[in-house]
Amino acid sequence: MLKIDNLPKKVRFNLRNKEIFPNTILSPMDGVTDAPFRRLCRVLSGDRMGLLVSEFVPTDGDAVFNPDGHKQLKFFPEERPFGIQIFGRFPDRMAYAAGKIAETFHPEFIEVNAGCPAPKVAGKGSGSGLLRDLPRLQEILHEVKKTLDAKTPEIPLTLKCRIGWDDESINVMETLKIAEGEGVEMLTVHGRTRLQGYNGLANWDWIGKVAAAAKIPVIGNGDVNSVECARERINTYGVSGVSIGRGAMHNPWIFGQIADAWEGREKHVITAQEALDVFPLYYKFKIEDGATEMNAMGRMKQLAARLCKGFCLDDKCVDRVSRPSLLGHDRDQHLGQERSDCPKTKDERGSALRLGSGTLSSTLCHPGAEGDRIQESDNVAMSVRQALLTSQSAAEMLDRVQELKEGIAREMVFEPECLVNLNGAKETELKFGDQFKGR
Ligand SMILES: Cc1cc2nc3c(=O)[nH]c(=O)nc-3n(C[C@H](O)[C@H](O)[C@H](O)COP(=O)(O)O)c2cc1C
Repeated sequence: MLKIDNLPKKVRFNLRNKEIFPNTILSPMDGVTDAPFRRLCRVLSGDRMGLLVSEFVPTDGDAVFNPDGHKQLKFFPEERPFGIQIFGRFPDRMAYAAGKIAETFHPEFIEVNAGCPAPKVAGKGSGSGLLRDLPRLQEILHEVKKTLDAKTPEIPLTLKCRIGWDDESINVMETLKIAEGEGVEMLTVHGRTRLQGYNGLANWDWIGKVAAAAKIPVIGNGDVNSVECARERINTYGVSGVSIGRGAMHNPWIFGQIADAWEGREKHVITAQEALDVFPLYYKFKIEDGATEMNAMGRMKQLAARLCKGFCLDDKCVDRVSRPSLLGHDRDQHLGQERSDCPKTKDERGSALRLGSGTLSSTLCHPGAEGDRIQESDNVAMSVRQALLTSQSAAEMLDRVQELKEGIAREMVFEPECLVNLNGAKETELKFGDQFKGR
């Protein structure tokens, strides 16, 4: 059934002459979005991901940039259109690396990172450190663009930035002006300051201001975790598309779900069992990519830590949808507050769960008051997560996945869109304040 009424105002955008559909980007995440993770998202989304980008590639370290030393540069033809992101603080080194990468790999775009908040990057003047030195950022963009135009003029230059260094120095409008002046052809704005790190919420009002003033496509980034959220961001803030990072770890199907919605298709509901199937698939992709068993297990746990938060008991009483939503302006007043509708744990049945007996599920379906059931549901999701995170080996983890699939997963659903918080340990505990104060 087509649901054309629900389409957002924009479902595609152009990067130079290339049409990008859907208008989504898998946000680069160092240590996460390597080729196997991108493959996972591609496969689960039916190859409808908009744009893919490499993890950021350092350029400061090499006097003469050598692509051989950088595993982040590995990508596959099926990943196109694909961008390679670089970071650094020396215009000549950035330009040299960009030229070398462009000639060697012919990506669809080269992106300069002006967003990384990590002290070892930003503290040295790279990444979001460039937002404290816009003339340097301008010189970098100028030199990189000059090199690309000379060597590979078919490859556009793009920029990813934050809104500023801190609340007192928000300069994203100047960044836009500089970027457009230097021939940047797409700007992705993460709506946080550097000082904020990943705390609090992205400020989409600033993203909207940039989108309204820009002549180039502006991609909004920060806290997008569902089809609805993507739709609302595009419609409310006028961005050309959205870039999704942590939301893809909570829900690696999100790009396909967005593409389905934008194509007017019904949502494909992911069952809890289907959600658990990502682990053997991801493991296979990691091993095929040459990962050790330990490394592959580490990445499966990294994914489990987020993905398992989306599980809840399949019970009409367990109405997580009634929780405060990330959509709209009222989200700020909800987040960080204690939920009054969520009673403290009274019944710890969930925590009594054990793996190994093969009876994970049967005691969990006693009907109870709605609040109890929500709490119980959270406990079960936490237990599933713990069962996976405490595995001692990849084989044990995959056995546990199988056991969960045959047990409790039959009584659970996967609803990651109900999560309201991508940066806290618990649903209701959004971390505010400056993550990188004094660092
Ligand atoms: C573990 C991690 C690694 C990241 N690495 C990069 C990176 O290499 N390049 C980049 O531009 N942003 C990086 N980011 C930032 C994300 O791309 C994105 O801007 C940020 O997570 C906000 O988007 P989200 O709310 O959708 O996650 C990283 C974020 C995380 C959590």
